[in-house]
Amino acid sequence: MSASSRADIWSSLPVPAILIDGGDHIADLNPAAEGFMNNSARWLVGQPIWDRLAVDAPLEESLLRAREQGTPLFVNDVDVGTGNRAPLVCSLHIAPVTGQPGWMIMLISPRELAGRMTQSHSVKSAAKSAIGMAEMLAHEIKNPLAGIAGAAQLLSMNLSKEDLELTDLIVAETRRVVKLLEQVEQFGNLSPPELRPVNLHDVLDRARRSAQLGFGGHMKIVEDYDPSLPLALGDPDQLLQVILNLLKNASEAADSKEGGKIRLRTFYEHSFRLRRADGSGQSVPLQIEIEDDGPGLPPDIKGDVFDPFVSGKENGTGLGLALVSKIISDHGGWISVDSVPGRTRFRISLPRAPRDAKEND
Ligand SMILES: Nc1ncnc2c1ncn2[C@@H]1O[C@H](COP(=O)(O)OP(=O)(O)O)[C@@H](O)[C@H]1O
Ligand SMILES: [Mg+2]
Repeated sequence: MSASSRADIWSSLPVPAILIDGGDHIADLNPAAEGFMNNSARWLVGQPIWDRLAVDAPLEESLLRAREQGTPLFVNDVDVGTGNRAPLVCSLHIAPVTGQPGWMIMLISPRELAGRMTQSHSVKSAAKSAIGMAEMLAHEIKNPLAGIAGAAQLLSMNLSKEDLELTDLIVAETRRVVKLLEQVEQFGNLSPPELRPVNLHDVLDRARRSAQLGFGGHMKIVEDYDPSLPLALGDPDQLLQVILNLLKNASEAADSKEGGKIRLRTFYEHSFRLRRADGSGQSVPLQIEIEDDGPGLPPDIKGDVFDPFVSGKENGTGLGLALVSKIISDHGGWISVDSVPGRTRFRISLPRAPRDAKEND
């Protein structure tokens, strides 16, 4: 079995599974376990397992014995808590991992979990539930924030100059947080694309013009279009959002004074197909490339830039590329990135409209 299909099994396993290293720290966990622990792997990996998982059973002795003998341990019907909600009754299976110093803990058949687990059977959907949570929070936090900003503004009416700085700070910072929350909400509110025949060059032109008038004023944007490119099947507004996000990132990566260069390229690649897990294929022959000559993706987040909340910027939300990736995958398309210092290239592949389709169909 290949490493990648092993990884797929690990992430689609409908049972929360946690890998523990020799020192009882969390080494890895699958999406079902992320759901169970109500936290992301990013945050949990490295933490002492028994700080995160409270098992209401005197385990120490039997665990020690199991460890010495390298035998698995099965504990039936115990209360397992995670610190952020009431304990659930489950059965624990704790087993050594062949060829590794650590252990694997599986939480079997926690009944109350059945509904929750169906939605966390892949990494993508784990991210989706994180977004759902964040969206709910965003909604709850926005109202009190408006109150805080309002109160600060009222206070500022009778203040000395020095103290005014403080109320201004409160107002400015609450605005910033509200903006962030709005982005989270926008992500959650994304509706399915309304697919119709689209001229991608129109979308690219709209994005280019709006970039050059705003955030991309310091960039030189060059076009390298295939004039015979057929119409795509897409939602022009959502695709505009995609291109704008990519142009914005490229503009933000460049030096704000020196500027930089962005190349927009389109071409047709007849043979480009997506293979789905169920074996069916989708042809995605329309290609858009957005290439910049900036410093490239930060190495430490290179592999995760499409995940929500992954950002290399001090004030970034990490939602831009997550939104881009969601929109493209809702279109049945594909996005990839290839980045080295001095050249970062995002590539989008989209399906074409039916051959006899016209725009405005
Ligand atoms: N063209 C690019 N050049 C360099 N780094 C990039 C580029 N596009 C994205 N990134 C990196 O990917 C991160 C995630 O981007 P994004 O999801 O849009 O979130 P945000 O822009 O809010 O940080 C950015 O913070 C940045 O570090
Ligand atoms: Mg961004």
